[in-house]
Formats: sequence, C-alpha cells, structure tokens
Amino acid sequence: MKRIKVAAVVGARPNFMKVAPIMRAMRAQAGWFDPLLIHTGQHYDERMSGAFFADLGMQRPDADLGVGSGTHAEQTARVMLAIEPVLQSAAPDWLLVVGDVNSTLASALVAARLRIRVAHVEAGLRSFDRSMPEEINRLLTDRLSDLLLTPSRDADQNLLAEGVPAEKIVRVGNVMIDSLYHQLPHAALSSILDRYRLKPGGFGVVTLHRPANVDDPQVLSRLLAVFAEIARELPLVFPVHPRTAMRIESAGLTLPAGLMGIEPLGYRDFLQLWRHARLVMTDSGGLQEETTALGVPCLTLRENTERPVTII
Ligand code: UD1
Repeated sequence: MKRIKVAAVVGARPNFMKVAPIMRAMRAQAGWFDPLLIHTGQHYDERMSGAFFADLGMQRPDADLGVGSGTHAEQTARVMLAIEPVLQSAAPDWLLVVGDVNSTLASALVAARLRIRVAHVEAGLRSFDRSMPEEINRLLTDRLSDLLLTPSRDADQNLLAEGVPAEKIVRVGNVMIDSLYHQLPHAALSSILDRYRLKPGGFGVVTLHRPANVDDPQVLSRLLAVFAEIARELPLVFPVHPRTAMRIESAGLTLPAGLMGIEPLGYRDFLQLWRHARLVMTDSGGLQEETTALGVPCLTLRENTERPVTII
C-alpha cells in the first residue's frame, strides 16, 4: 500500500506546539504516513524556535528555509520562493499547515498552485477584524484548503457561513491542548518558580506582542502604566517577546517596579510559570486557550478575539 506523504509546515513559535502532536501521531502510524517537516525559519532565535523543538521532543526539520524577519510582503514572498522547489521535489500528497502566521498562508498558496492538496489545522477561526494580519492569513488559507480541520463549533459555523462545503469541514478539536496535556508532567519538573523565587498563586504573568498593543508608543506606555498599578498588589512576570523588547527600547520606555521583564521562555518553563499564576494578562491567542483549558484566569488584552470559546 502506498503511504500518504504529508509535508507539515512550521514557521513561528505558536506553530510548534500544534504540529508536535500531529507529527508524533503520523510517525506512530508509519504504515500509513510518510511525514516530512519543513521549518520556514520565520522565527529563528534559539529562545523562539530551537528551545521549543527540544521541549516538545520534535525531530529536526527535514528542510529549513531560513527566511527570517521582514515586512509582511517580504516574509510571505520569501517563504513562497523558498518552499516552491522543496514541494516540487518532495511532491507530497498533502501539505499540512496550522494556525494563521505568514508562513501558513505563504506555503498554502504555493501548494495550491502546485495542485498539492492543503489541510488546514485550526481552520475557521475569525476575529472579524481585518486590521489583524492573522485574520487575512486565516481567511485566505481557509479559501485555499481542501480539508478544513476545526477546533470548535464556532469555527464550523464561520466556514459554513462563508459557503465552504460541509464535506470539507472536520471538527478535530484543539491540537495545542493535546500538546499541553502531553507536556504537563514534564513541565512539573521545571525549576522556574524557584529560579525567580515565586510562590504558586503569588504572582501574575504578562505577555504582549501584537502590533496593535506594542507598535504605538502611546498605547504601549499606557499598558505599562496599567501593569505598574496592578504590580503594586501582585508582582508580575513578563517574558518579553523580541518584537516588544525592540519597541520598548525605541520608545525610550522602562519597565515599572514590580513588572519583572525576563527573556522568552521555552515551552515547559513557561507552562510551569503560567499554570501557577494568580492571573494571566495576554494578547496571545494560544495562551488564551491554554489558560482556559487549565482554568487559570486570563484577561485578554485585545478588543476582539477569534477564540470566543475562551470568554465567559
Ligand atoms: C508572529 C505571527 C503572530 C504570532 C507570533 C508569535 C504573523 C503575521 N505573525 O508574530 O501571529 O502570534 O508570531 O510570536 O505571522 N524576532 C526576533 N527573533 C525571532 C523572531 C522574530 O528577534 O526569532 C523579531 C524580529 O525583529 C521581527 C519581530 O520579532 O521583525 C517580529 O517577528 P515576526 O515573525 O515578523 O512576527 P511576530 O510579531 O513574532
């Protein structure tokens, strides 16, 4: 029997934990699947990428495109140029993409042109806010996909309302939460709380990286002022995304007392940190879902969300 050749693409940090359980499942069914892992290199720092491969037990990618940072157009175009020859020579039966980052759309577009079938994991999520680059990536990737694998009922409904035929939609649940449960026992071994002298329930966690929150110095400085206020009662730990670190520096801002800025963390350390937090404040879509799954209170620092299942 011919095995199904599936090329899975990862690019940015939130992709790794979604693809890890799928690669594991495909490798466990080696009689059925011939999986291939392509890393576009959208995220390239050790702390944004390498640390995740190690924590999640992922094998090294079969192809590493090394596209790096740039404007949306540059990044999308570089992924397209780099992935085309890889897909042409590997000739997979399916391209599997996850989420909504620039690498997701760029690779789906190339595959569709090469007549390679596209499966999109986390299909159908909508914020209905086209000022977010991710919303454009979600809409277009879903348009290009032959198989739309959704995490939740609202996602099915969004796709049906856009005219996607019901037979293309399969609700599979949330693969990122599969990763979360798989990693919980490993995360429990992390020494992160001791390293920062934190007591379970005695601190909050902040993450911030969306352009809408960090690109305008006024908005960013107002957010830091709010954190300063909260930190008077509850110390806050803030693993700073490289994009945010750059914006804080270029705006000439400093972190207020009580807001402890630290380097981005690997998956296990970060999981051990936030699961013991009194509350989490974030603009990350993934963390909204993860905190919801474990019942950690989460304040979403956005005006809308494509993940309504996380709101009470
Ligand atoms: C990307 C995704 C976003 C996701 C986020 C998670 C898009 C449009 N955005 O945003 O949906 O929530 O990843 O982190 O795809 N940088 C580094 N080292 C790295 C990666 C980035 O220093 O390894 C810096 C670069 O200066 C870069 C900036 O961060 O220009 C932004 O990186 P980029 O990949 O463009 O977008 P993110 O903000 O990370």
